Amino acid sequence: MENLKIDLSKIFGFVDKSAVDALQEKAENSNMALYNKTLPGNDFLGWVNVTNLNTADHIKRISEIASEFKSKIDILVVIGIGGSYLGSKAVIEALSNSFESLSKKRKNPVVVFAGQNIGEDYTNELVEILNDYSYALCVISKSGTTTEPALAFRILKQHIENKYGKSEAAQRIIAVTDAAKGALRKLAAEEGYRTFVIQDDVGGRYSVLTPVGLLPIAVAGFDISQLIRGAIDMETLTNSTAKIENNPAAIYAQARNVLYNSGFKTEILVNYHPKLQYLSEWWKQLFGESEGKENKGIFPASVNFTADLHSMGQYIQEGQRTIFETVISVKNQNTNRTVPNDEANLDGLNFLTGKRIDEVNKMAELGTLLAHVDGGVPNIRIEIPFLNEYYIGQLLYFFEKSCGISGYILGVNPFDQPGVEAYKKNMFALLGKPGFEKEADELRKRI
Ligand code: PA5
Repeated sequence: MENLKIDLSKIFGFVDKSAVDALQEKAENSNMALYNKTLPGNDFLGWVNVTNLNTADHIKRISEIASEFKSKIDILVVIGIGGSYLGSKAVIEALSNSFESLSKKRKNPVVVFAGQNIGEDYTNELVEILNDYSYALCVISKSGTTTEPALAFRILKQHIENKYGKSEAAQRIIAVTDAAKGALRKLAAEEGYRTFVIQDDVGGRYSVLTPVGLLPIAVAGFDISQLIRGAIDMETLTNSTAKIENNPAAIYAQARNVLYNSGFKTEILVNYHPKLQYLSEWWKQLFGESEGKENKGIFPASVNFTADLHSMGQYIQEGQRTIFETVISVKNQNTNRTVPNDEANLDGLNFLTGKRIDEVNKMAELGTLLAHVDGGVPNIRIEIPFLNEYYIGQLLYFFEKSCGISGYILGVNPFDQPGVEAYKKNMFALLGKPGFEKEADELRKRI
């Protein structure tokens, strides 16, 4: 079976291979530290061993809830933010029919999201839709106290209880949270919701392969056992006994650190598959929250090509030369369509007659890669054979492992996010939360 592949050949005009190789020992030590738990953040390494993340009982309960919901609901509303939403959103978008919600053949509930913003219109529009459909809620918060999902849940809890009555509503609410701590755990116990535990040693952005990601993905109708299998196989390829020179996660971590040290401070994750847009959003959180600290870290950005070649393409080709690209390429499509002949040929496209749409896309990819390299943008290329559960599982674990190694090479703790608290303190003060009076006075003087 083919695996994810990484190709660094198009960075070597910009940095030396010897510089990448020179980081091998550091990458090996960093990878080892993820297993031996010898570096900062060592209490957040539960994600490293995928096999230990989910018990058979977990998977069975997730599958039972997925089949129960399939026969009962039209919509699952997943309430969560950051790591509590981006993983499942990324996987569901990657695997779903792009027009799933319009499909008359749809067999599974549509999964929608709430609590990932503070949008009044968004909330009202969702409530309006939920009036007309059978639905359930899956509220996900590790801390159980995050403002955005708590606010959304307060509103949707009232809605679902008014619609179905308290006891049926309790059957339609699943909570995924800490084993013991937090307001959500307390509420779930009081109201009798079914629950799943987010283990202490798995941080939000590394939690997609726990019930945080798996439950919504299973309800959407996807094969979570294949997703886990892909991740486990990638773990085997990248574990501490694998040869470091063949470890794709280490190779990626080394390359991006060498580029960063050579002045390439922004990494753009590029896809040529429209279903991968949210994979990039998940990736941005993973790397941004893990590495952006102590005034260091690559700025993670993303584009969707070829769409964004008509917007960001100009900047990437000719703007400030501090960017590099990492392209995710999907080798084979799951369906087949060729360009039809047109006798009139008014559009002049008959030279494409008979070619696969994907061949056109692949030539756009190759042409862009060469143009961007000519324009001064180093390119890393990551290829997966197909877009399916198994290879998405490989890709997710590949990035998580690379991120852990890369953060340690950079010299930061890739598993905390102290900077996320600053906005919350100001927001609470400005909203008059008790206990924040002093901060509120100081902020008001600055407005
Ligand atoms: O990666 C992280 O830890 C964060 O992005 C969290 O996932 C996010 O802040 C949501 O936190 P919680 O699940 O506690 O509501």
